[in-house]
Amino acid sequence: MHTSVLLKEVLEYLDPRPGKRFIDATLNGGGHAEALLERIMPDGRVLGIEWDTELALQTRERFARSPFKDNIDVVNDSYTNIIGIAERYQFRPDGILFDLGLSSWHYEESGRGFSFKRDEPLDMRFHQSTGVPVSEIINTYSPAELEQIIRDYGEEQFSRQISAAIGQARKLGPIVSVNRLVEVIGSAVPEWYKHRKIHFATKTFQAFRIVVNDELGNVKKGVQAAIDLLPSGARLAVISFQGQEDKIVRELLKENVKAGRITQPVKGTTRPTWAEQTTNPRSRSAKMKVAQKI
Ligand SMILES: C[S@@+](CC[C@H](N)C(=O)[O-])C[C@H]1O[C@@H](n2cnc3c(N)ncnc32)[C@H](O)[C@@H]1O
Repeated sequence: MHTSVLLKEVLEYLDPRPGKRFIDATLNGGGHAEALLERIMPDGRVLGIEWDTELALQTRERFARSPFKDNIDVVNDSYTNIIGIAERYQFRPDGILFDLGLSSWHYEESGRGFSFKRDEPLDMRFHQSTGVPVSEIINTYSPAELEQIIRDYGEEQFSRQISAAIGQARKLGPIVSVNRLVEVIGSAVPEWYKHRKIHFATKTFQAFRIVVNDELGNVKKGVQAAIDLLPSGARLAVISFQGQEDKIVRELLKENVKAGRITQPVKGTTRPTWAEQTTNPRSRSAKMKVAQKI
């Protein structure tokens, strides 16, 4: 199962106690949610939002067989709709958690081409009824548009070479599998780039995933909606794993502090301890920011 990041710090800040109510805006397998549930029993509630239909179903079933079955609702929707979802469940939260990005399950089990290590169809969507599979973007956008995506969302230094190689390669037939995309990226980057610690396809894959799911747009909409939804005194915690997401969160919180809507009781960014980074390498890039509604 996915290991929840910054768990101790999330609990310390959201301060779950019996009877309290929390929204987990990125439920996944329910790691953070379960830790919250353990502390809000017997009459607290969690409203869990998960965009990925397969995951939402699995997690709903898991909780239905758990001691928390009457204390959690699992909703298959995007957190960008958090206000409408909370209204529908008449849910007034004491705290909201966002743990952005994707999980080990996406890389290892989804079968949707999130990982450059598995030869799967190139889909990369969290919610497969929204938008188009990433292969459609790869095969129809102009090389200039692809370059911009790979540069802006992947911060990839060889974006021009990679997009040009994609433009050439797809003339031979559409690029629809992970292995083919990795091969094309490999043909575009210099030899030394293939012998670094970070795999040469990492940044291009990240860029395509961000764009196909509109991840940055969602973070901006979702976190602002959560701030609007929070009642006075309630708290927000946002964990991001990626520089651009973190920047969006930082700027949103700053604007909301300026507008007198929130305070930032914990200044700056909370990072995982060295011990957590050693036991869970995925946590290394995690950054948490917290806010409290005025
Ligand atoms: C890092 S995981 C969360 C892990 C979880 N906190 C735990 O401890 O198990 C992020 C989750 O957010 C989901 N997600 C991504 N975009 C979303 C969106 N717009 N709305 C709701 N969930 C989303 C992903 O499908 C993924 O399952």
